[in-house]
Amino acid sequence: MNELLSLMQTRRSIRQYTDEKIKQEDIDAILRAGLLSPSGKNAKPWEFIVVRDREMLGKLAEARTGAANMLNQADCAVLVIADTTKTDVWCEDSSITMAYMHLMAHSLGLGSCWIQIRCREAHNGQRSDDYLRTLLSYPDHYSAEAILSIGVPAQTRDPYALPELPDSKIHYGKY
Ligand SMILES: Cc1cc2nc3c(=O)[nH]c(=O)nc-3n(C[C@H](O)[C@H](O)[C@H](O)COP(=O)(O)O)c2cc1C
Repeated sequence: MNELLSLMQTRRSIRQYTDEKIKQEDIDAILRAGLLSPSGKNAKPWEFIVVRDREMLGKLAEARTGAANMLNQADCAVLVIADTTKTDVWCEDSSITMAYMHLMAHSLGLGSCWIQIRCREAHNGQRSDDYLRTLLSYPDHYSAEAILSIGVPAQTRDPYALPELPDSKIHYGKY
């Protein structure tokens, strides 16, 4: 079995974490995976804001109604923002970098989960992006795509089984 494919089969969104601290070298590896991700015209419009301070993580959890509660347990959050003046595909670029970091976290035995920020609302009714901009001071021409919450897993989730994949979504030749 191909190593990457089996890693992809066992990757799941993990939303429960222990109190254990993540090693800085693991955070570095996750960020490197993000920096290694491809981007349109190699523009690399994304930047990453890494948050490990517990109080700030609690405030980040308020960036979404409901869907970001795991940040109250996570040891680390990586917010992916992008310079929207650099490229019209910043959203795609940011999504790919998120996927790379999510998969790298899994390969290190860490649990992580995508928290959608773009087009979403914070607890206080502001756009999630505006709420985070005020909190983390990024410039107006940057927009946030998503947050990756990361921690030592406190839950196990079933891997995907290859025979159960939705093969009907694949069309050869034409639809
Ligand atoms: C674009 C996108 C947005 C997502 N937003 C959230 C979110 O805001 N909160 C959350 O808990 N999970 C979020 N997820 C995780 C999905 O719910 C999860 O990937 C999906 O249910 C499949 O489960 P799996 O990741 O374990 O395979 C998001 C995933 C993607 C790709």
